[in-house]
Amino acid sequence: MSGCAGRAPVQNKVTEYRNGMVVSASPFASKVGLDILKKGGNAVDAAVAIQFALAVVYPNAGNIGGGGFMVYRSASGETNTLDFREKAGAAASRDMYLDQSGVPIVDKSLYGQLAAGVPGSVAGMVAAHQKYGNLPWATLLEPAILLARKGFPLSTQQADELNGLSEKLMQLNPDGTALLKTGKWAANELLKQEELAATLEQIRDHGKAGFYEGKVADQIIAEMKRGGGILTKSDLQQYEAIWRKAITGAYKQYQIITMPPPSSGGIALIQLLKSVEPYPLKRWGFQQDSTIQLMAEAERRVYADRATHLGDPDFYDVPTNALMEAQYVKDRMKTFDWSKATPSSSVKAGEVKGKEHEETTHFSIVDKAGNAVSVTTTLNGSYGAVVLVKGAGFLLNNEMDDFSVKPGAPNMYGLIGGEANAIAPGKRMLSSMTPCILEKDGKLFMVVGTPGGSTIITSVFQTILNVVEFDQNMQQAVSAKRFHHQWLPDLIYAEKGAIDSLTRVKLESKGYIIQPRGPMGRVDAILKTRQGNYQGGADPRGDDQWLGW
Ligand code: DON
Repeated sequence: MSGCAGRAPVQNKVTEYRNGMVVSASPFASKVGLDILKKGGNAVDAAVAIQFALAVVYPNAGNIGGGGFMVYRSASGETNTLDFREKAGAAASRDMYLDQSGVPIVDKSLYGQLAAGVPGSVAGMVAAHQKYGNLPWATLLEPAILLARKGFPLSTQQADELNGLSEKLMQLNPDGTALLKTGKWAANELLKQEELAATLEQIRDHGKAGFYEGKVADQIIAEMKRGGGILTKSDLQQYEAIWRKAITGAYKQYQIITMPPPSSGGIALIQLLKSVEPYPLKRWGFQQDSTIQLMAEAERRVYADRATHLGDPDFYDVPTNALMEAQYVKDRMKTFDWSKATPSSSVKAGEVKGKEHEETTHFSIVDKAGNAVSVTTTLNGSYGAVVLVKGAGFLLNNEMDDFSVKPGAPNMYGLIGGEANAIAPGKRMLSSMTPCILEKDGKLFMVVGTPGGSTIITSVFQTILNVVEFDQNMQQAVSAKRFHHQWLPDLIYAEKGAIDSLTRVKLESKGYIIQPRGPMGRVDAILKTRQGNYQGGADPRGDDQWLGW
């Protein structure tokens, strides 16, 4: 294994593999996944093992106390998606994070037990394994249990993050946790998590009941009582992961297979691709002024739609097909004017015809048979609610902040929303997570996704265009600097180096405000080449690593 603690592996070499590939945010988790594939496990087996391993070796986002989405494409082209998103507890209410005068209480939906939705990850992994798994369940849990019990060496980035978080951890976990120590964490120091190992053993031995019932459920409920949380035993018992039909859409000869609501990501990604499809991006070139202007204007309009029209489809009629219709997207772009930026104040959500009835981490996997899995999973903020369930050693999510706590009030990513994403008991909060699989001419082409809150959708959008329009290889497409517009605030956020000075001047002269921003997203992706080999793209913004065989 080339990736080791203390430095981010730099994977710029184009190396191709024949039998399969795994890309994740941690070299240890990637190794777990590859070992499972080599043992004869399929892509879903590897995904389950990686999900549990990440809960140990990447505790800021890998999780058992959070949720996520899986997009699946079998070697023969069958597609499916699994929604294991968290839900609001039965005692949740629309105004639960507002004070008496109706103002959002800062931090109430972000920290502590009340910020947590009912975790979905364990139910998700059980459902995925039952439907598609090949290896025994216990085999998939063992690597994570071992990593938790024996420990793993922290990377520099992880040691720094834990040190930065120590005050908050102490405040919210007064009895201590494995993530806290006297003095500072150093790179390469072993992090051992005995309580987490014992919880994973419960899940190994009892499956779903090992988490949603019995000892671990009791520990979760005790934790809720300790800190004013509202989740109950029946919330836990009733949680179910849901198989949903994938969102699909065409971009040129590519077919996009991605996540339906309660993620906004799939619909938004297809809207974005359709918005730019009529224009000659390849001719304009990568990160040129026309390219950036067009993409930013598409993003502005799509994020305005997101704020109004998207929410949990089990609670709100999301006009999925209407939003993705080619004519609708074309009409939305009609107000785009090359000579100047469209002010966001003049862009509202589009009128759609009729209603229809009806720190996060990403990993991508392809197995020997050619089955592909794309999973994005999260606690929401880094380390979620920053509360570890006492005695059980895992972090609770703060996913409740992904609801619109008040119409028009921005969440931690600056996203706003309204009725479609208002809090209701048992409802899933809207997500931006965009796990995605692409076909080219009917064959597997790419597996891609990323964390990054509101920037997830635009990072996936750019990574796809980097390959299909700008001829970058998978690693170049992932490493390339990114920019992002989300309607409100009315800014183009740009990573350092994303927009050169001449292009900046041209865009500013049209009224665009460009705001520098730190790293956006950590894309982990796999590309299948014309020769049938796999190329990895592991994001150098983190410790991410691809491993192939
Ligand atoms: O579901 C969502 O859209 C957010 N909870 C994702 C959070 C995220 O990506 C944080 N990571 N950087």
